[in-house]
This record gives sequence, structure tokens and C-alpha cells, in this order.
Amino acid sequence: MNTQPIGVLDSGVGGLTVIKAMLAELPDEDFIYFGDTAHLPYGNKTPAQLITYAGDIMKFFSTFPVKAVVVACGTHSSVTLQHIIKDYSIPLLGVVKAAARSAVAVTSNKRLGVLATQATVMSGTFTREIKTLQPGCTVMEVACPKFVPLVEAGKLDDSDTRQAVHEYVSPLIEQGIDTLVLGCTHYPFLGPVIKEFIGPQVKLVDPSYETVEELRQVLHSKNLTRGNNPHSQRHFYVSGSQESFFTVGKLLVGDVIQRVEQVCLD
Ligand code: DGL
Repeated sequence: MNTQPIGVLDSGVGGLTVIKAMLAELPDEDFIYFGDTAHLPYGNKTPAQLITYAGDIMKFFSTFPVKAVVVACGTHSSVTLQHIIKDYSIPLLGVVKAAARSAVAVTSNKRLGVLATQATVMSGTFTREIKTLQPGCTVMEVACPKFVPLVEAGKLDDSDTRQAVHEYVSPLIEQGIDTLVLGCTHYPFLGPVIKEFIGPQVKLVDPSYETVEELRQVLHSKNLTRGNNPHSQRHFYVSGSQESFFTVGKLLVGDVIQRVEQVCLD
């Protein structure tokens, strides 16, 4: 048993999609959430910038200290994780391997689409991970720079959102995909609109639950589980604006967010 919290990071509210799964599947675990809203969006940042941000967040987490970190961000999972993982002795888990496992489990025609940020698409990590598991797959990645600002503005279902979904997803449908991976943790906020657009023939993969399942296994195997904890502690920190985080975050996880504290990591 280990009573230390788990660190969860993202550029903003996206990682809350993983928090939602943690609340359902690992309700006894305490966590510290960090939304790097001062640097949002991550999608247009360079690998060097992203590695610096990740290092600063890890330093912040080490002050608690945390027993494990969930990189609840497709961009950091794709670009940064491989560079920093060796520097830490605690488990660090990303969302890409979980997404790849889920995707190959559901595809029948082996034609998959991935929606992700520009930085993630440029890294090619989703394609690599999916093809490692299932070499015969055709993977098409599409960068969706309009999605994160829409989600952070709480525009989850308006005409701009529908237009952006149409723009990014249509070419993939034309290519005959049967599986669509949400490769950025912000995108499950748009899940209902995307689902309506793709229809029942295309399966939508949100890596959150598979990521939390992997976390559960890691905690068990390393004897790090919290044990019974009726008064779980959940703390939310951001590096920039608290307002949108508070308002949009509540849409997804409700009253779990009581307070959001701003911290400066630079
Ligand atoms: N939610 C993040 C991701 O999964 C970051 C998106 C962004 O800030 O551009 O990629």
C-alpha cells in the first residue's frame, strides 16, 4: 500500500477525460492534476519546448511527492515521454500505447484514422505504436488545430465545432476507415458531435479507460495501490487562467473540481 497521490498532467482540461475514468475505476486514489494553461495549446510547440514544460511539471510533482504520473496528454505522450521516462524512478504512463491497444482490438478492415495535435502528428508516434501491434494496418493521422481552442472555450456543440469536425473527419471517412482514434485528450469532449458525424459504422477510440486500466495494473504490480480511502484528496493546479479550466472542467467532472490554484513554474 502507498498513500502518496498520483500526478496527472495536460495542457488544460484535456486530461480531465482521464480523470473521469480514474474517478470511476480507481476512486480510492488521491491525485494532483496540473493543467499547463500558460502554455496552451501544446499542439504548436516544438519538441524542445515540450520537454522543458514536462520537466517543470515533473519538478512540481516531486514536491508532493507523487508515486506515479499519468501523462494525460497525447502530445506529451507522443513527443516528450520517450525522452524523459529514463530520468525518473516512478512509473510514467502515457496514452498512446493504450490507444494503440484499443484501436487494434476493434478494427476489422485495418484502416484507422487518428485525430491529434500538429506536434503529435509530426512525431508519427501513433502510427508507429499501432503498426508495432498490427503491422498490416493503414494509419492516417490528421492534425486538428481548431479543436483544442474550441474545447477550452466550452464550444462543445456549436456550428464552429460541427464545421471543424466535418473538415477533419470527412477525408478519413472517404478513405474508408472503420476506427477513429481520439489522439488528443481534449477530443473526447467533442465525442458526441464526432460520433454523430461518423455514424455507427466507425468505432471511436477514447484511450482514457484503457490508460487507467494500465495504471491499475502498474499500481498493483508495484504494490503502490492506495487501499480503502473514503476521503480521497483531489487537487487541481494550473499555470495560467483558472477561469476556463474551472468552467469547462466542471462540465466534465462536476463538483470534483472545488478549487483551482494557480502556480507559476517558470
Ligand atoms: N490535450 C493535449 C493532447 O492530448 C494537448 C492539446 C494541446 O494543448 O494542443 O495532445
